[in-house]
Amino acid sequence: MKILVVGKGGREHALVRALAESPGNPELFCFPGSDAIFEIAKPVAADGLESLIAWMKSNAIDLCVAGEESYLVKGEGLANLCIKHGIPCWGPPKESAQLEASKEFAKEFLVRNGIPTARATATASLDEARAAIGGKYPTVLKFDGLAAGKGVAVCPDEISALAFLDEVFTQRRFGPGRVLVEDCLTGPEVSIFAAIVDERYLIFTPARDYKRALDGDLGPNTGGMGAVASRQLVSIEMLELIEEEIVIPTVAGLNREGLPYRGFLYFGLMLTPDGPQVIEYNCRFGDPECQAVMPLVNGDLAGFCLAGANGELRRDLVSFDDGWSVCVILASAGYPESSRSGDPISGLENSGDFRVYHAGTRKNAAAGWETHGGRVLAVVAGGGTRQEAVAKAHAAADLTSFPGLQRRRDIGILNFD
Ligand code: AMP
Ligand code: GLY
Repeated sequence: MKILVVGKGGREHALVRALAESPGNPELFCFPGSDAIFEIAKPVAADGLESLIAWMKSNAIDLCVAGEESYLVKGEGLANLCIKHGIPCWGPPKESAQLEASKEFAKEFLVRNGIPTARATATASLDEARAAIGGKYPTVLKFDGLAAGKGVAVCPDEISALAFLDEVFTQRRFGPGRVLVEDCLTGPEVSIFAAIVDERYLIFTPARDYKRALDGDLGPNTGGMGAVASRQLVSIEMLELIEEEIVIPTVAGLNREGLPYRGFLYFGLMLTPDGPQVIEYNCRFGDPECQAVMPLVNGDLAGFCLAGANGELRRDLVSFDDGWSVCVILASAGYPESSRSGDPISGLENSGDFRVYHAGTRKNAAAGWETHGGRVLAVVAGGGTRQEAVAKAHAAADLTSFPGLQRRRDIGILNFD
């Protein structure tokens, strides 16, 4: 089987590794990929969506796996083009990927389908937004578009709200677009991943990411400084409630509204005192949650995704470990405001009962690895208990270093004890 994975980050490195470990020895390709990914997946000679599709056709690719979201909504849409050309694709078409690309679309879908979510008003100007806030703080403001993770502001007071609204409506920092003014929810967050195949689904191991840069959930928001995954992250009763009130109505809503879906759907949830509520949908696996979850997945992921892309949910092909998995991100100097490339990485030759996924690295002239981006590496270890996984992951992270390295020491610990 020939599989092409689309993306280049730590999530795609984890996906490619998991697919490579599937029985049947699939032949793997990756676009745009990275030096580390190219050690297990071959690079693709393409420079955009159209040439990628042409390459897949001429190389008789059996399955396209969308890792990253941007290609799903670019141009005609990755999955739309795959479908048009008869290439099975694990990832939804553009129309369905609006669940991630437009917060207003997602909110209307949630409300229409009676799925618990924070109340929100769409606004088109600073005055409308101020009126919708109505002096009630804290409030949550969300730019209605892809904004590279910078489009959401949880505002404790009027000063912070006006600063965000000024960026959006006056400076047009993210380009044209509206703002959702949303009620502020409280409670622990959890990321639920479902593999959806038309009207059927399979829930993967739940995870939680750590978005802030510094220990204690302090400092600026990042793409994620670590993650923890386990079936035990939420109780069986809570998972049943999430399934009944959120996953089932979402899958039913997609089908009723003619939004085709074959791929991973990420439910960003907050477990509020009034029950679980949806904060966001993403039409892909989480990063770095994927790096934490993949080592817990057993079986034939490649066969599962191929069957899914062809309309068959093969629950029998995958199973999940019961234990815990902890992922610690090593980030470069300056992250998240900026990043520094070119710092030599040492210690990667160490091996043991852990995995290292590359997020932002490249090979240098001396054939060693150096930093190449904000999030550089994801170090992942597992254990029968959370404490064991935490100790192993942090000890493994200690083995690798580079100038300017930043990491959190409380991944897997904070928000539990
Ligand atoms: P999002 O980009 O939608 O995932 O939002 C980023 C983060 O903002 C989430 O992970 C939450 O921590 C926070 N957030 C989003 N919506 C709300 C809300 N309605 N109430 C409280 N916090 C929120
Ligand atoms: N970990 C958050 C995300 O992937 O969007």
